Amino acid sequence: MNPDNSSDLHTDPSQYPGLDVYAVAGNPISHSKSPLIHEQFAKQAKQAMYYGRLQPELGSFAQAANTFFAAGGKGLNVTVPFKLDAQALAAVVSPRAQLAGAVNTLWCEDGKIIGDNTDGAGLVRDLLAQGIALHSARILLLGAGGAARGVIGPLLERSPKCIVIANRSPAKADELVKLFANLAAANEVSLESRTLADLEDSEKSPYPFELVINATAAGLSDASPLSRLAVNNIFTPSSFAYDMVYGKTTAFMQQALQRGARISDGLGMLVEQAADAFLLWRGAQLASAIDPRAVLSQLRS
Ligand code: ATR
Repeated sequence: MNPDNSSDLHTDPSQYPGLDVYAVAGNPISHSKSPLIHEQFAKQAKQAMYYGRLQPELGSFAQAANTFFAAGGKGLNVTVPFKLDAQALAAVVSPRAQLAGAVNTLWCEDGKIIGDNTDGAGLVRDLLAQGIALHSARILLLGAGGAARGVIGPLLERSPKCIVIANRSPAKADELVKLFANLAAANEVSLESRTLADLEDSEKSPYPFELVINATAAGLSDASPLSRLAVNNIFTPSSFAYDMVYGKTTAFMQQALQRGARISDGLGMLVEQAADAFLLWRGAQLASAIDPRAVLSQLRS
């Protein structure tokens, strides 16, 4: 597929007779690996479908999505910057997407647009596939924006010992702790907020973490949210450092490596959230027909 060809960025379902048509919507979107991932799932599960790209202008998501569905489109994945627009567009929003505050998967049912969010479930599945035990684990979540919010619910449901949400500005982390307090209590998880600066202080941050997840946008600008002091406090060689960004060894991942910790980028999360979306659209009975880890290996090779 040639990303410079403008029709590639505006998938029109009427152009693919005999195929069920899906797309990933974002802006920009030409770099997205989602079409490649879904093409592999469709091949594995022998599904007659086409999965393309959609790049609405900023402010025009609803119009582009409605046009796509009106032309027979079956489903959309939604990425930056449209996940809130997708939530607003959906007539029915799943409870987990409501908690996440964002929608990344849309489809039509009985003439109504349904919205769900598979990001958090995708992260949890990728962590488990990498052998990371979440039950009773001490988890540090860096960041308190949309990316962080999207994964807190599914992490809490795995009953870790604690989740500490650390953010540069304290108010957003405090808000998330309030928002998820009931779910934390129901799963007997201690849920607390800190500032990034608190992580440097061994009294405010007295123990290291088994799992540290970077959900800040710092990696995008080659920065790490962690100072050298914080790194010494929070990592041990048995820690696992996960960056939601993929395609590079970020400054955060390098810091973890220097402390002897294991690292992962977020490519597995991308594949696993796509797998969940695929099964929502095509039917859960296909779970045994697709192999997300094989697709991940292929993307890495
Ligand atoms: P997203 O939806 O991707 O989470 P967002 O809502 O803009 O994007 O949130 C970005 C997150 O990255 C926030 O937690 C932000 O911290 P603040 O709330 O203090 O702004 C964090 N962030 C961005 N750049 C950062 C940096 N250089 N260092 C530390 N945190 C950073």
